[in-house]
Amino acid sequence: MNVLVTGGAGYIGSHTVVELLRSGHEVVVVDDLSNAKIEVIDRIKEITGKRLHFYWIDCADKEKLWDIFRNHSVDAVIHFAGFKAVGESVQKPLQYYRNNLDSTMTLLEVMEEFGCKKLVFSSSATVYGPNNPHPYKEDMPAIQSSSPYGWTKVMIERILTDYVTAHPDFCAILLRYFNPIGAHESGLLGDDPNGIPNNLMPFIGRVAAGKLEKLTIFGGDYDTPDGTCQRDYLHVVDLAVGHLKALEYAAKHEGVEAINLGTGNGISVLELVTAFEKVNNMKLPYVIGPRRDGDLPAFWADATKAKELLGWEATHTVEDMCRSSWNFAKNAST
Ligand code: UD1
Repeated sequence: MNVLVTGGAGYIGSHTVVELLRSGHEVVVVDDLSNAKIEVIDRIKEITGKRLHFYWIDCADKEKLWDIFRNHSVDAVIHFAGFKAVGESVQKPLQYYRNNLDSTMTLLEVMEEFGCKKLVFSSSATVYGPNNPHPYKEDMPAIQSSSPYGWTKVMIERILTDYVTAHPDFCAILLRYFNPIGAHESGLLGDDPNGIPNNLMPFIGRVAAGKLEKLTIFGGDYDTPDGTCQRDYLHVVDLAVGHLKALEYAAKHEGVEAINLGTGNGISVLELVTAFEKVNNMKLPYVIGPRRDGDLPAFWADATKAKELLGWEATHTVEDMCRSSWNFAKNAST
């Protein structure tokens, strides 16, 4: 298939592009490089030995996106492009709503003009909000979030659902990710955010590299086995393979499907820190600090739908995630 990947130079996008190329798909990447580096494109080529088309554009730019659809016969789209920093979204809600919603609606309009009817969307477990019991199942209400970033995911899921109601021959797969960590085994691709990281694993990577002094674990008094929060961490390469499976499913189906991508297991912050120390043979300086606003004590996926519908299951261990994260972070530029 000819697959357009928006945000294909980003953390999850780049790993997905590698898996697409390896499976013989033709790939067109569009990315505005607002939170990604141009070198990623060369690194993808280096890893796969394959060529790809890259356009440095904002996918909310309709004319430019239209030109891309005119020049490439796009069979399907995987839509990653979007702002994703939870804290920043609280400070800059309009930017988040404008960017994330506009880019999606522009994309849908152009897809409609070119008769492209297959879309895989990068959603998040954040759509389950604070009120559902875990493990989260796809048929639970997914209509609430705790940040403007999360609300853009809720709203885009709604937009896509309404779009499919109006166009029943369209297929939209809403992939609800849990907590992707880890990096490509080559050490060439990984999570390398601009500035001080908000997410746990990039922060750990910079502490391990001596670029940050210590990790603060947000809260040690939660009602969990060791008092720290539990999350469903999954390897980014497993997540990338999940997109490939979702694309194959979309190619043969119509309608809208929300699907969790997680391992189905909860791991605590402290367990992750300990695993990182053990596999990488180092000590990580850390302190237990106060809770972070908006954090939920524990959640993980019910991962059965992905297995049944897509034949997808996470295969990497927590040790794989910690080893590959460090293999990338020790050479990362920031
Ligand atoms: C958040 C978002 C999620 C988003 C994901 C990736 C919410 C509710 N969740 O998940 O939608 O997809 O980021 O961008 O908005 N931690 C520390 N110290 C640190 C950093 C994190 O202890 O320096 C802890 C947190 O308290 C949490 C865990 O590590 O328990 C994971 O945090 P993080 O990586 O930020 O992901 P989430 O908050 O789970």
